[in-house]
Amino acid sequence: QPIRLQDYAPPAYLVDETHLCVQIFDDHALVEARLVMRPNPALDKHGALILNAGDEVTLEHIEVDGAAVADPVREGESLILPAISASHFEVRSRVRLLPDQNTRLEGLYRSGGMYCTQCEAEGFRQITPYPDRPDVLSVFTTRVEAPSEYDCLLSNGNPVGMGPLENNRHFAEWHDPFPKPSYLFALVAGVLDCTEDSFTTASGKSVDLKLYTEPHNRHKTRFALEALKRAMRWDEQVYGREYDLDLFMIVAVDHFNMGAMENKGLNIFNSACVLADESSTTDGGFELIEAIVAHEYFHNWSGNRVTCRDWFQLSLKEGFTVFRDSEFTADMHARAVKRMDDVTLLRTQQFAEDAGPMAHPIRPDSYIEINNFYTLTVYEKGAEVVRMLHTLLGAEAFRRGSDLYFERFDGQAVTVEDFVACMAEVSGIDLTQFRRWYEQAGTPRVDVTSEYDVAAQTLTLHFAQSCPATPGQPDKAPFHIPVKLGLLGRQSRLPLSFTTEHSGFDAANQVFSLRAEEDSLVLSDVTEPAVPSLLRDFSAPVVCDYPYSGEDLKLLVIADDNSFNRWSAMQTLATRTLVALVQQAAGEADELRQTLLSATSAVLADGLLDPAVKARILQLPAQAYIAEQYSPVDPLQLDQVHTELRTWLACELAAEWQQVLSATRADEPYRFEHRQAGRRALHLCALAATVLADDSGWQAARELFERADNMTEQQGALRLWSQVANTEWDTAMEQFWQRWKSDAQVVEQWLGICAQRPGMTVAGVNQLMQHEAFSWDNPNRVRSVIGAFVMRNPRGFHAADGSGYRFLADAILKLDGMNPQIAARLCTPFTQWRRYVPAVQAAMQAELERILAPDGLSDGVYEIVSKTLQGD
Ligand code: ARG
Ligand code: ZN
Repeated sequence: QPIRLQDYAPPAYLVDETHLCVQIFDDHALVEARLVMRPNPALDKHGALILNAGDEVTLEHIEVDGAAVADPVREGESLILPAISASHFEVRSRVRLLPDQNTRLEGLYRSGGMYCTQCEAEGFRQITPYPDRPDVLSVFTTRVEAPSEYDCLLSNGNPVGMGPLENNRHFAEWHDPFPKPSYLFALVAGVLDCTEDSFTTASGKSVDLKLYTEPHNRHKTRFALEALKRAMRWDEQVYGREYDLDLFMIVAVDHFNMGAMENKGLNIFNSACVLADESSTTDGGFELIEAIVAHEYFHNWSGNRVTCRDWFQLSLKEGFTVFRDSEFTADMHARAVKRMDDVTLLRTQQFAEDAGPMAHPIRPDSYIEINNFYTLTVYEKGAEVVRMLHTLLGAEAFRRGSDLYFERFDGQAVTVEDFVACMAEVSGIDLTQFRRWYEQAGTPRVDVTSEYDVAAQTLTLHFAQSCPATPGQPDKAPFHIPVKLGLLGRQSRLPLSFTTEHSGFDAANQVFSLRAEEDSLVLSDVTEPAVPSLLRDFSAPVVCDYPYSGEDLKLLVIADDNSFNRWSAMQTLATRTLVALVQQAAGEADELRQTLLSATSAVLADGLLDPAVKARILQLPAQAYIAEQYSPVDPLQLDQVHTELRTWLACELAAEWQQVLSATRADEPYRFEHRQAGRRALHLCALAATVLADDSGWQAARELFERADNMTEQQGALRLWSQVANTEWDTAMEQFWQRWKSDAQVVEQWLGICAQRPGMTVAGVNQLMQHEAFSWDNPNRVRSVIGAFVMRNPRGFHAADGSGYRFLADAILKLDGMNPQIAARLCTPFTQWRRYVPAVQAAMQAELERILAPDGLSDGVYEIVSKTLQGD
């Protein structure tokens, strides 16, 4: 049943031209396809002609070169036709679809008042029989016919014709000159409003930009268009990549399984990831939207012009494109802050994936359901792997490597080896060992110790790397790990310079290439005992451990000249404190707590720190991250310890927090920009402490809720205030609902605040699901309520009676029949079951077994649940 990388075989037949006619009617759609095909000249034997046809497709007719194929064999998703020896031939087919009943949101479906498509990874086969694999590239011509009320009929490429038809219908025809795989096909039909803009490329070509929304969202398009233009300019400046068509379109749709999709010339976005305006969007929302708009745009080169040979290569486009969008955000706002946010995501969620039953390399070698591999590992760790190449090569050589990659493989479907080979070729660096990052799963560990020789003034760093076993990979070979580092003088508290003879040390960039399982780096001219600052800027996706004392960590927090590592040191200090508290290591815990307190106080008092950085340093690591550090985990105890520590820090430093609270009050009208956003983040951080510190602290939250002119502070205040949920809070929530109930994006946030409220129970969530704002068939609403409750409400989800686990299993089973992709995503909280205390394990295991029982479970849920139960 699993599909394996080692079984890859090139396509037997190619499709030179794809001509589609999609006719949309009130209760069904007809799709006629004409495929101009030929045997793949690279092969000498061709065998059967296998097309993919999904189960949403009712085949009405199929013919080859005019001869009808009476009863083609249909096996699973394959439609098998006899081998064809002609040098060129045409396949014509006609199928019937029911887009209104397509609840999986894959293929052609209806979202609110419009029709749209989602084809990646394998949705195109739900539209027409086709060799639906990314290494078949074809030139598409698409005709859309629909009732005239659907005034916008869109597809990829350039418009080439439109006009009226009989029966109050009309058509539009589109042609995309760039050969592309079927997963990049898109079609939209709807009553849509269009906001227009334009962009002149570096070489002087004018590109029309169009953002389509349902009419009531017209006022929320400006920000995304501006972000798009910034992304287009950045890709020219940093990568030398220009846009290639005369038209670039974005469509916002309310029902969407993921964030957005990079269809050629016609990106389709989840409304939540594109619509924004100053009154209804938070700072975090703006930054996310800007990043996703850029991400999808960047795919035009990294993904579309150069695409993937097969789905095992997904990280080729996703890892590279996430790296690109992350650098874009770093350039637009604040580099160190973006790094902290990315690393937080990686450490809290991707590390858990790497340590769990679904662990896979960034290039997996087998899968049952490809949709399960759109993961943090493929995306975020994949981006870290590209970032390491950037670190090892340096910006200039990396750019030559990317230029070579785009030039050499333009119009082709390639592999990660092809990408790495370009980087090796331009730099002369041997990347053979580096390629293991693509092949081995799990988060490597780097353990470092040091010794100082006073007489010789040398500091020797000993490195030892290892990587835990993961399913199917008991033993790992050593990785090539770039470790960026520096030193801080124990006495001077200043950065120290040093020299070294080690050939693996790149002095210009302060990066040590750790290649062996063990290695020692002798640093000379070290004038005083030093604290090493390791893995600066998170130069590799590893766990790096060094036997720091609490005071060492505090020194790094206060004085490191790498601001990312100031944050990282504080995370380490807080993590150690929490783990000691959880494990009731009394003496150690108390000492660490005192050190954490004095480090916190020093950070609070630091007048030079960027407020955005300060807010992040002051944020304790999430419970999910702490839960990865020890086992067995009692989630309720962890929540209690975490809350107690936050409360203690808030009380001990009450005066300092108060000071920050008043110093960060808004004194200018809202604008989304780094300086203001940093101030707001710090203000909310101080408000959090105020709410925790004393019984009337919530009144400061109410005051902010009433005063704020922006969504960031209004929502932030409501969230913090919810910790003491009283009748005044209920009133404020109701007031907020009344004000925003017609804004879908704010409603989704509001649902999330309700579901995450401390004290929320399964009974409460069930009641929330009766609210008019909830709906099972909208993935955003499911995520806002069910997703938020099971992933971000530990006390509710882990309720001692097991009700949270039953609730989640019920939700997964219900959703599996409607939208298996969403059902599979919701399985994530269960994948960690073996890490918990026995009672929790038993309760989760029972629910996992219950999910697996019924026949007809989707491949997606089956794969995750069965692998989770198997363990390793
Ligand atoms: N390629 C899209 C992106 O990351 C993701 C779409 C994946 N969709 C899916 N159903 N697996 O930009
Ligand atoms: Zn992507």
